[in-house]
Amino acid sequence: MRRIALRTLPVLFIAAVALASAQDQSFVDAEGRSVTLQPGHPSLKPWLLPADIPAPEGNRITPERVALGEMLFFDARLSVHGQTSCASCHAPERGWGDGFPGSMRFMGERMARNSPTVVNVAFNSLHMWDGRNRTLEQQAVGSQSMTGSLNAGARELGIVDGNLGIERIRRIAGYAEAFGKAYPGEPIDKNTVGKAIATFERSLVSRDTPFDRWARGDATAMTPAQVNGLRVFLDPAKGNCSGCHAAPTFTDNGFHNVGLRQWGEANADVGRFKERALPLMKGAFRTPPLREVAHSAPYFHDGSVARLADVIEHYVRGGDVRTNLSPNMKPLALSEGEKADLLAFLQALSTPYVPYEVPRLPR
Ligand code: HEC
Ligand code: HEC
Repeated sequence: MRRIALRTLPVLFIAAVALASAQDQSFVDAEGRSVTLQPGHPSLKPWLLPADIPAPEGNRITPERVALGEMLFFDARLSVHGQTSCASCHAPERGWGDGFPGSMRFMGERMARNSPTVVNVAFNSLHMWDGRNRTLEQQAVGSQSMTGSLNAGARELGIVDGNLGIERIRRIAGYAEAFGKAYPGEPIDKNTVGKAIATFERSLVSRDTPFDRWARGDATAMTPAQVNGLRVFLDPAKGNCSGCHAAPTFTDNGFHNVGLRQWGEANADVGRFKERALPLMKGAFRTPPLREVAHSAPYFHDGSVARLADVIEHYVRGGDVRTNLSPNMKPLALSEGEKADLLAFLQALSTPYVPYEVPRLPR
């Protein structure tokens, strides 16, 4: 008995210290929830993505649909000119973006907006920087598709029934077979093309980042610096980031003007205001999700910032142009150490790049 008691003492002592430090790590985050920064703590549950990938009633996810959508996503024959595929601007090796500040289009013409990642789009309730598309089906074959931008101008590569792209796909035997398996009894048209591509996009899920593993209980998944960076991210008195980059997707699916330099220029992109003419929406863009963000530089809707460290500096300054600035944007009092830790945390939201095996296209 005595021997056991003697052994128990230090254990009790350690437990008491752990409890004290757990209390020390508890605070109310920018979303108003009490959180405790301990690996696997129940208060971190809201950050874990749901087990099921959301998909609409009429387009459930099946392996055949994912496989078909993947081929279409990488197939330039679908575009009117036969030169551009979705992957030209959403390339796996560039974080499913294209790495350009403004996306490149057919013949190298520059687009006004940065090509966003398509990872985890299944969990977003609105799409595009201005939220103009409600469903991925609609986005994939919308009139501006294969140009992707509102500012696309005349040279449209859109997927329209009766256009060259869909006609080309229809004549390919391998596609007839793949459509037959994925959407039996349905024709090969704009509708099924959109459904297949949307299903493929829904399959691009990131939910196993170092942060996710830490939140599920793996204490070794994040470094102490990254854990402190998470604290800065969540704490309204520090970074206040989760006020907009909210759980579990790191977006509130809302629109905010974060005071980019571009907003101060003549003829600046008005963003959401074009969709909803509310004063608050002037120069406001959709909060982007942040998983895998380390791979998808450059940043912001205009791709104006090249490095994540400079994104952090932008927030520390409280933005550059203050007209119509979101009330949630305030200069931040962060030490050099806290900035470094916040950067380390943003990196903990990404997984190492694994070369993507591009599908074999049907003939
Ligand atoms: C020429 C470059 C280009 C091509 C080709 C292209 N996109 Fe895009 N994509 C963009 C740009 C730029 C945006 C952002 C436009 C905006 O918000 O105004 C975008 C936005 C998106 C979004 C919204 C992402 C989000 O987070 O809201 C999805 C989904 C998407 N594209 C899928 C596709 C699919 C599917 C195809 C092929 C059918 C495609 N894209 C072809 C450049 C491109
Ligand atoms: C007021 C809401 C708000 C707050 C607070 C906020 N963000 Fe953002 N964040 C946004 C919006 C909106 C964008 C896109 C703005 C644009 O492109 O015009 C964005 C963009 C980003 C991007 C670029 C992502 C990409 O794919 O281009 C990163 C990284 C980012 N924020 C990190 C942070 C960090 C870190 C903090 C805390 C220091 C933070 N944000 C605080 C709303 C916010």
